[in-house]
Amino acid sequence: MRRKRNLEPRLEACGALLVARGRPCLNLKEAAEHYRALFNYREMFENDNPVELEVGCGNGAFVLEMARRHPDVNFLAVEVCANVVLTAMERIAAEGVRNVRFLNIPAETLPCYIPERSIGRVYLNFSTPLPEKGREKQRLTSPRFLAIYSALLQAGGQIVQKTDSEPFFDYSLEQYRAFGYVVTDVSRDLHHSAYAKENIVTEYEAAFAGKGLPIFRAVATKQN
Ligand SMILES: C[S@@+](CC[C@H](N)C(=O)[O-])C[C@H]1O[C@@H](n2cnc3c(N)ncnc32)[C@H](O)[C@@H]1O
Repeated sequence: MRRKRNLEPRLEACGALLVARGRPCLNLKEAAEHYRALFNYREMFENDNPVELEVGCGNGAFVLEMARRHPDVNFLAVEVCANVVLTAMERIAAEGVRNVRFLNIPAETLPCYIPERSIGRVYLNFSTPLPEKGREKQRLTSPRFLAIYSALLQAGGQIVQKTDSEPFFDYSLEQYRAFGYVVTDVSRDLHHSAYAKENIVTEYEAAFAGKGLPIFRAVATKQN
């Protein structure tokens, strides 16, 4: 993707929305000790509302609509690509939405910032399936990432996933169960299911559904 014009000054203009950026220069354990202590939700959002997290937020359509529908929930949106997170942040800034903050970081480094057991829900919308051999570790529902989400989620916290890829969906359900999560609300054709009415269509979802592909969705609940 070509770098956006004036990327840095535009990111800076949205600076109040951006609470973490880049890779920490300390090792992950030291970074966790250092940065996590600075990550204070009350200061960030000026309230004590519950916090939910979207990983791989893309252009921000989902988190914007979630924030509008749930003004008494705070949302953190993670996106590794600066070009992409800029679009999301400019949207949120233009709409004057107050309950969203962004982390322009790879999700691998989330434990450096987010306090343990502080998140009620993790949303994974159309994460790249990465079916190639040798790339499993990078899948956002691999055991490596489930270990991260499990540390961040409160007891009873949930992962809500949507995807267009059935093999990736089946793989993910297997991983949730292997981690002791209870899987519910499984839909293999979301747009023709009881969940369709509440559904917020993301950018990738619109593209896949536009080609007539079914959308898969499930909720995985952490037990302790
Ligand atoms: C296929 S897009 C989906 C975007 C959006 N959720 C949607 O449904 O329209 C996946 C997004 O996840 C981001 N992403 C992929 N791996 C990531 C990682 N390890 N950490 C943070 N973001 C990641 C990509 O940059 C990309 O914007």
